[in-house]
Amino acid sequence: MTNNMNSTISQLKNHVQDQVTLAGWLYNSRAGGKVLFLIIRDGTGLCQCIVEKGKVPDDLFDQLRHLGQESSLTVTGAVRADERSVGGYELAVTGAEIISPAADYPITPKAHGVDFLLKHRHLHFRSQRQWCIGKVRHTVIDAIRRFFNDSAFILIDTPIFTTIVGEDQTSLFEVDYFGTPLHLTQTGQLYLESAAMSFGKVYCFGPTFRAEKSKTRRHLTEFWMVEPEVAFIDLPGLLELAENFVSFIVARVLQDNKSELETLGVNIEALEKIQPPFYRLTYTQAVDILTGPRAKDFLAKQLKEFQNQKQEIEAKIADLETQQSGQMKQWKKDKIAADLIDLRSTLAETETKIENNPKHAQLAAEFTWGKDLGGSDETIISLMHDKPVFVTHYPKQAKAFYMKTDRANENVVENFDLLAPEGFGEIIGGSVREDDHDRLLDRIKQQGLNPETYDWYLDLRKYGSVPHGGFGLGVERTVAWITAEKHIRQCIPFPRMADKVYI
Ligand code: 4AD
Ligand code: MG
Repeated sequence: MTNNMNSTISQLKNHVQDQVTLAGWLYNSRAGGKVLFLIIRDGTGLCQCIVEKGKVPDDLFDQLRHLGQESSLTVTGAVRADERSVGGYELAVTGAEIISPAADYPITPKAHGVDFLLKHRHLHFRSQRQWCIGKVRHTVIDAIRRFFNDSAFILIDTPIFTTIVGEDQTSLFEVDYFGTPLHLTQTGQLYLESAAMSFGKVYCFGPTFRAEKSKTRRHLTEFWMVEPEVAFIDLPGLLELAENFVSFIVARVLQDNKSELETLGVNIEALEKIQPPFYRLTYTQAVDILTGPRAKDFLAKQLKEFQNQKQEIEAKIADLETQQSGQMKQWKKDKIAADLIDLRSTLAETETKIENNPKHAQLAAEFTWGKDLGGSDETIISLMHDKPVFVTHYPKQAKAFYMKTDRANENVVENFDLLAPEGFGEIIGGSVREDDHDRLLDRIKQQGLNPETYDWYLDLRKYGSVPHGGFGLGVERTVAWITAEKHIRQCIPFPRMADKVYI
């Protein structure tokens, strides 16, 4: 035997033909007559380990053959490159040590319901999809910090217990703070504005809380938001900052997580297009698109595509069902059963899309100027574009009190939402801030907020007020978009939703 050394799966490329030991968990296994194919995961990747009868002691071969999914073990063997193998390398096993055998692991390769997986989140982490998404989330967060730190922004940690309404009175979580009611933060922005008057360019990054009852795939009650705030900036300057920022994040994920994106089945070419400049529409232009022929034609075309997809899926299902009734090996049977579960769930999704299409078309056609864009409206606009879209200048009545009234058109504010492509909807909300003391005070009163609690915030408009603004990017929505994950709940380690908090 040559020198034996410990390795991780991600480092196997440096050890071809060496004898190495991997430590990990049994992800999956398949047994032929005289050979076992063990897929091991170790946190850095997956590796197929091949155990041939006769190359290891018989009793070990027998133990490995019956070893349960997620048992922990070490395996030793020679590394060989093999393109066909998951990860590109295999181990020809000459020894193994079982550390802790597991039996009846609850999450099997077959499909499970959402509630089941959420209740087993502590184990679901180990599945391939969750592992890939977790790695992308890590890169996104690292890129966020890198972008601002390298652009001379100062990190300011804003409080979680807050005394003021930051965004919206209807979605506050109240906490009893030694007898005084306080709220969990909805945004760090207002505090951050005071810091911008000290440091110029600042950002905060932390968890935020919204008691939104919405049970949509885009809403969490606890989510992470990064918010930059800049003194002496205007709306065009903010848009430029936002498009550079988002492009930087996507480029980093493409650089660091190509293989995870491939495993997740992400359209990498579409991500490669994410470069400045992004599209720019005013709210009024967006409304014109929604209520005009462009959206109508787009939705009609989309309906046809969904109907074709439905037919294709139904044909595939029928084909697999016929195959299933024939004679075949057990592993082939299992594979067909797993494929059928996937196809049936895609069919159900496609049917929902077909059902929703006319409803969304109606909502869009009947959209009236003045309302905030709804989820389906955002989806339509974003699906009609291949890069993110800025929607600017929303009606004043649809937006938060702190946004600056456009002096050229007093009905709208100098704000923007950034809509991610492919139907993922809003990932950023931002604005120039009202910097005139009296106008701001009026807006606070108009929205029924208590001006006394905003004394300190109004002070910022008394002592050297300057044009300033910023935005907030939701981490989970960004990760959902980049990983093409439909449900935002899969993009945070332990999701909290209006109707579900399990572990
Ligand atoms: O548009 P929002 O509400 O903006 C603010 O909070 C501003 N104070 C930010 C600022 O200007 N400094 O939220 C910003 C982003 C949204 O675009 C979205 O990505 C995310 O936060 N977000 C949510 N993510 C998950 N679940 C929810 N319930 C979310 N609400 C907002
Ligand atoms: Mg918003």
